[in-house]
Amino acid sequence: MTLKDQLDKIRQERKEDIKDVVDLKKLDSLRVELLGKKGPITQALRGMRDLPADERPSFGQFANSVRDELQSAIETRRDELKKDMLNKQLEHEKIDVTLPGKPVAQGQPHVIQQIIDQIEDLFIGMGYQVLSGPEVEEDKYNFEMMNLPKDHPARDMQDTFYITKEILMRTQTSPMQARTLEKHDFSQGPLKMISPGVVYRRDTDDPTHSHQFHQVEGIVIDKHITMADLKGTLELVAHELFGDRFDIRLRPSYFPFTEPSVEADITCFNCGGKGCAVCKYTGWIEVLGAGMVHPNVLEMAGVDAEVYGGFAFGLGPDRFAMLKYGVDDIRNFYLNDIRFLTQFSKKG
Ligand code: PHE
Repeated sequence: MTLKDQLDKIRQERKEDIKDVVDLKKLDSLRVELLGKKGPITQALRGMRDLPADERPSFGQFANSVRDELQSAIETRRDELKKDMLNKQLEHEKIDVTLPGKPVAQGQPHVIQQIIDQIEDLFIGMGYQVLSGPEVEEDKYNFEMMNLPKDHPARDMQDTFYITKEILMRTQTSPMQARTLEKHDFSQGPLKMISPGVVYRRDTDDPTHSHQFHQVEGIVIDKHITMADLKGTLELVAHELFGDRFDIRLRPSYFPFTEPSVEADITCFNCGGKGCAVCKYTGWIEVLGAGMVHPNVLEMAGVDAEVYGGFAFGLGPDRFAMLKYGVDDIRNFYLNDIRFLTQFSKKG
């Protein structure tokens, strides 16, 4: 067989081999085998020097055309394989964009947080600052600076969890009164602040008691603040949260840190004031404690009680939520039962 016939045979056979290759790696090793330095074409071109001189050009041309042919066969096969791979991948990863999507479960603020948000919006609109304070609090702020010295009998009403003798879980948000009074610079203007947060009491949980619940403290201190300002402010809260037909009534009460002290009632949401079982036939429901900040509280925080004075209040968003939605057991707010909590959609 002449060199040319050998080459022609290689051309025909190996072209078939190329067509049969099914993966790119093998195709590449075949390429090296056929067209590389040790491949048959290179060999044949090397053997050319044994040919008579007049046959060399046509043989050279032929060898080059075989090389080109095999090369383009390899390229064609490579393109085919790549296309196959892509098609397989597309088939495999097919996405039907017309299928309905899976609904994404979207959360919402807890019902008590919704009430707090509403209260915050209202007070921010009136120029109050919103601050949060520590839940693990010093006895000094929770009691002493609120005019409840160590042996004060009113401490009994607010037993709590003690970390040490001097550090406890705060029983009220009122310590934020002392903390802000201490820092406030009255030359820059009045103090107007609300402070929402969690408080703790050593109470046994039952439908109306929880060892952990929420309060929103409020305090306004300036030069000419009166109880009428307090009442007007509380009325706004009632209207905002429940509606315009709700009124506020103040009753004398006692807190060590306010003088005079009041308890505020709101028109019974159930009977609208006529009297029913919910309001024990009074037409009113107690919702918060308030009063004019006691001079001792001001003085202990370094504020001149001869010049400055004002009101403070502490309301319970848990109680508000119970009244607003007719929830009869406070523990529902803390059990994290999603069926209960999702009833209070912000939209609804
Ligand atoms: N801190 C009081 C309580 O927890 C509520 C209150 C706050 C009363 C501010 C008067 C003024 O019962």
